[in-house]
Amino acid sequence: MRISVKAPLKAILAGEHAVVYGYPAVAVALDTYVRVTAEPGDDSFRVETELSCEGNVRAEITRDGNVKGFRSESLHEELTYVATAVRKASEEFDAPPSNLRILSEAPPASGLGTSAAVTAAVLLGLAEVSGVNVSREEIRRLVREVELEVQGKASWTDATVVTYGGFVRVSGREFELIEPERNPVLVVAHSQEPSRTGEMVRRVAELRERLDIVDGVMELIGELVDDLEAALRDGDLRTVGELMNANHGLLAALNVSTRALEEIVHVFRSAGALGAKVTGAGGGGCAVALFEREEDAKRAVETLSALGYEAFVTRPSPCGVKTE
Ligand code: PMV
Repeated sequence: MRISVKAPLKAILAGEHAVVYGYPAVAVALDTYVRVTAEPGDDSFRVETELSCEGNVRAEITRDGNVKGFRSESLHEELTYVATAVRKASEEFDAPPSNLRILSEAPPASGLGTSAAVTAAVLLGLAEVSGVNVSREEIRRLVREVELEVQGKASWTDATVVTYGGFVRVSGREFELIEPERNPVLVVAHSQEPSRTGEMVRRVAELRERLDIVDGVMELIGELVDDLEAALRDGDLRTVGELMNANHGLLAALNVSTRALEEIVHVFRSAGALGAKVTGAGGGGCAVALFEREEDAKRAVETLSALGYEAFVTRPSPCGVKTE
C-alpha cells in the first residue's frame, strides 16, 4: 500500500506577526505543493527528502521522534518538523514504521509555510497508512501542536490554510473561509536568504518589549486586515493591493524586511503589481505580489530572474491537504 498526499504552500496577504498577538490575518493557499508518499516499512521511519538546499537527504526517525543519520544542524532543523509529526502520528494513530518520501516545489525556510505543509502531509499520509480516518479539524490541531513544539510561538494561520486551502481569515483559533469575487494572479519571489520563523517571531517579541509603538503598529495591521478582507470579498483588487503595500510598510517598521526583499517589492511595483509585500516571517524568505494581468506578472518574473532571484507565477489553490 502506497499513499500519496499533497499539501499547498501559502502566502499571507496581510497580518503576519500581528496574528501571533491575537490580531487577524488573511492568507491564501497556493497552487504550489509539498508532496509526500508514505508506505509501511520495516523497523523504523525512513525519510527521504528533497527539501533541503543540500540536495537529497536520508534520515531515520524512531517512533518517539529521534532523528538519526542527518549531517548538519540546518538539516536537523528541517527534519525536526517531520520527526515531531512522526511522533504525533505514532501517539495518535499508532502509525506503523513507514517509508516517507518528501518533495517540495519551493525551497524550505522561504516563508511559504513549507514546514506546516510537510507536517500536514506527513500526518495525513501516516493516518492513511494506519487506516485511521482523521478529520480536517484534527489535522489542523495536530499541525499547530507540532509548530508550537518546534517554534515555541505560532499562530493558527499556517495550520488552517494548509488544512482547508483557499483564502482564509484567521483570528486566534477561529477562522473563516473567504470566497473572493475575483481570483488574482500572484507572483512569489525568493530573496535567496533563509527566513527562520522562530527566530523572527522572537525578534519581534523583543522589539515589542522595548518599543511602546509596536502595539500601535500591530493594531494598524489588524485594522488593514479587516479592510483587505472586505475588499477581497467585493473583488476590489486595487484596494487589496494598496493595503498589501501599506502592510509591507508596517512590516518594515517591525524590522523584518531586508535589502533584497525591498528590491523585490520595488521591482514588483514597477512591473505593474497592484500590491507587493513580504510574506511570512521575513528577515529573508519571500515577497508576494498581486497582479491583475498575467503578462505583467510574467514580466516581473523575467526581471527578477535576471537579477538572480527565484520567482514564479502562481494562483490561489482551493484545496487543502489531501490524498492524490
Ligand atoms: O514564515 P512563515 O511562513 O512560517 O509564516 C510566519 C507567520 C508569522 O505570523 C510570523 C508567525 C505565525 O505563527 O503566524
